[in-house]
Amino acid sequence: MDTKSTWKGIIREYIDFFPITEKTPIVTLLEGNTPLVCVNNLTKKLNLNLNLYLKFDGANPSGSFKDRGMTLAISKALEEGAKAVICASTGNTSASASAYAARAGIKAIVLIPEGKIATGKLVQAMVHGAFVIQVKGNFDQALNIVRELVKEYPITLVNSINPYRIEGQKSAAFEVCDQLGRVPDYHALPVGNAGNITAYWRGYKEYKEKGKIQNLPKMLGFQAAGAAPIVLGHPVEKPETVATAIRIGNPASWRTAVQARDESGGTIDIVTDEEILEAQKMIASYEGIFCEPASAASVAGVIKLYKQGYFKENSTVVCTLTGNGLKDPDIVFKIAEKPVALPAELNSVRDFVEKIL
Ligand code: F0G
Repeated sequence: MDTKSTWKGIIREYIDFFPITEKTPIVTLLEGNTPLVCVNNLTKKLNLNLNLYLKFDGANPSGSFKDRGMTLAISKALEEGAKAVICASTGNTSASASAYAARAGIKAIVLIPEGKIATGKLVQAMVHGAFVIQVKGNFDQALNIVRELVKEYPITLVNSINPYRIEGQKSAAFEVCDQLGRVPDYHALPVGNAGNITAYWRGYKEYKEKGKIQNLPKMLGFQAAGAAPIVLGHPVEKPETVATAIRIGNPASWRTAVQARDESGGTIDIVTDEEILEAQKMIASYEGIFCEPASAASVAGVIKLYKQGYFKENSTVVCTLTGNGLKDPDIVFKIAEKPVALPAELNSVRDFVEKIL
């Protein structure tokens, strides 16, 4: 055991669902068991007649849902004797891979699009001792490079093309059912490389097969307007969005995301950068949860669909907040109201306080 904590990390908690043997060295930071928060303030302010819940996966050890897949991918890599892992990333995969590789005592090499990842995520890879390569290109190009490289060298790829990543990430669907005590009617997610929507759908289906739940949710995916290949039906060569985590033009799990959408009877839609930032601000200021812009795409999308009359009244909707807002403070700093500056005098501060009371 790693600690005396009651939660043992997603592999040990859901061991029957994973390809683990006695020989697998389990590399864990006790990821998972993240909060599922009912958000009444937001629904009241916006007049949404929904039971809305946020699954805050930004509370994972490296600050994003990637840890769920990484614990399994790194454990299996270690079991198979890997000395190094590699990934392309918009920031969170690289942060998570770096953290779990450090824990496993193996090397991590991460390729990131230069100037296009949030500062916090870059710093995470650096502090965990990864070899960080900034490429003068986008995520899709970086992913093509690492795919080729692993054909030539004994390095394990830990992007979600690695099947263990999606296997681990499906644990979030199990948790939602366990925490909610039922299956949500809808589950909303941001979609980038499309691994997570694939993972949730697999998770829900497996829970049903094992008899843990009786029905399945409709899956709702949201892409940023400037990076919406699945919605447009063709790759986007130069994706652009303020939500850098989902700035992806040719998702690796495209086919399985479409399958999740169609089998579940859900939809994959677009949200604009303005809608994303507005949702991020509302989640933070009405509910006290600070998620990164990409994560807010799930809530922005639900608000958009609600206004179009998409939902049955009183439906139960879960939105995954995939990453922690602390990773990407720059965008908030740019647009949020700046703090006031006052002299260090009681009277000035009193005047200010009186005005706002
Ligand atoms: N939200 C956040 C915060 C992400 O970091 C990502 C993907 C997504 C949503 C989309 O998930 O790719 O499974 O559809 N980030 C990857 C990365 C691409 O490199 O960190 P997806």
